[in-house]
Amino acid sequence: MAVLAVREWGDPVLRQKARPVERVTDLHRSLIKDMIDTMRDVPGIGLAGPQVGVSERIFVYEHEGEAGALINPAITRRSEDKITSEEGCLSIPGLYYDVERATEVSVEGVDADGAPVMIEGAELLARIFQHEIDHLDGVLFIDHLPDEQRKEALRTLREQALGLVPPGPAHARGPGAGGAEEML
Ligand code: NI
Repeated sequence: MAVLAVREWGDPVLRQKARPVERVTDLHRSLIKDMIDTMRDVPGIGLAGPQVGVSERIFVYEHEGEAGALINPAITRRSEDKITSEEGCLSIPGLYYDVERATEVSVEGVDADGAPVMIEGAELLARIFQHEIDHLDGVLFIDHLPDEQRKEALRTLREQALGLVPPGPAHARGPGAGGAEEML
């Protein structure tokens, strides 16, 4: 078991567009194992390559007790229906905000064996897919917030970076917030 360091806000790798994986190798399979270990250690329910400093299009997720991995994922369909729910990010510890996402998405990519896969996700799984694929494009969940909230989040992050406020739950969490299960 290998737990990798999770990169946090301010690390430039989180803002880079990750490159596609040309061929899935044992190195990727080993990375996937380490990423799943890391995700479970935190614990979280999704983790993308850039979050462990690997700028490649790959992410892992945990859903209904099972871990999965997707390489070169692309959203091929998103529902017009949207749902708003509280979200957090392993790379932005302590901040939680409501984010609107498509209720359902279809994602295509390849699995750890390099075989093509298509997965349909609804609600939480759809949210994980959208959050993680954003990471591969250098997008963070706070980018989706309305102006005022995004400014508040950035102010908090800058203050944390300067050591003015301790890292931790900085933004009041809504009712029904369950803790680690919204960490992606
Ligand atoms: Ni995240």
